[in-house]
Amino acid sequence: MAVRHTGQAGYSGVPLAKLLQQSNPGSGGVGLKASLFSLGDDAAYQRWRAWKLDGYPARAEDLIVEVGDPRELTQAEQAEMRRVCAKTNMVIYAARDAREEDKAIPRAMGARFGLHRLDANLLADEDSISSLEVVPSKSGRGYIPYSNRRLLWHTDGYYNPPAQAIESMVLHCVRPAATGGENALLDHELVYILMRDAAPQYVQALMAHDAMTIPANVEGGSEQRPAQSGPVFLVSRNGASLLMRYTARTRSIIWKPDAVTREAVLFLEQLLETGSPYIFRHRLDAGQGLLCNNVLHNRSGFTDGEDRSTSRLLYRARSFDRVAGTEFDTIYC
Ligand SMILES: [Fe+2]
Repeated sequence: MAVRHTGQAGYSGVPLAKLLQQSNPGSGGVGLKASLFSLGDDAAYQRWRAWKLDGYPARAEDLIVEVGDPRELTQAEQAEMRRVCAKTNMVIYAARDAREEDKAIPRAMGARFGLHRLDANLLADEDSISSLEVVPSKSGRGYIPYSNRRLLWHTDGYYNPPAQAIESMVLHCVRPAATGGENALLDHELVYILMRDAAPQYVQALMAHDAMTIPANVEGGSEQRPAQSGPVFLVSRNGASLLMRYTARTRSIIWKPDAVTREAVLFLEQLLETGSPYIFRHRLDAGQGLLCNNVLHNRSGFTDGEDRSTSRLLYRARSFDRVAGTEFDTIYC
């Protein structure tokens, strides 16, 4: 299927001009919110920025919501999880009684929040939920998630075409490792704000349809996935959210070779390297999970114990749907 390039800020299958047309004051709708991310309407951006930063959590503990059975959330638990996620694009649930190996947990959690269209990626199990644990046959092929090595900053599915961008995911911890395996998490909307505040031309460069190119995935001479160009920041297909596609890997990515793109990428690398008060760090414990709108994240290396009970196992479900109740037209008026 041909992928249509519509120009820099509006790349998403929804032309920017159309989004801006929809952004007449008083017209409501998602276009009004989506236009925040174009550089043309700074006043709208500044209003949203102030709203976004007002009351933004300061600690990882502020992201945690205790729940009973994550397969059957109560209305109150669901509402509290949605409240946290609406502000930060992420929430960590901590279940009191769900330590077993049960893929029904991430599946039910996702379904409760509208994550119905799951991504059956190359290495997902047949049910589209990946079991992330050390698997030598996979890690040996270069798939680091299935090793115990650290994972650099990225958003999930950064190599997907923009039209199939991953909007959200559930990462459920069955068992942590004996040591290590901590995640760092950063709301991609905060990245956008920090970058736009520093230099608006950086976000403009990273919204270009050819900002980054992921080379083809070739194994044993056969192409598993074609080369893929796309933006870093993009507005979702329905105009209801800002998405980010990014990896800090250097071997598997080609950046557009112009000065402003290089500077923007360097800015991002330094931000992630030097840290930010907006970066949360948390090591998922058994029965805990992350539900998020595909925020930036990384993972430290880890060491499994001698037996299975101390070997890390996480389930991951990726979805093309945004966490329900966190759309712009729902949370920002
Ligand atoms: Fe990831």
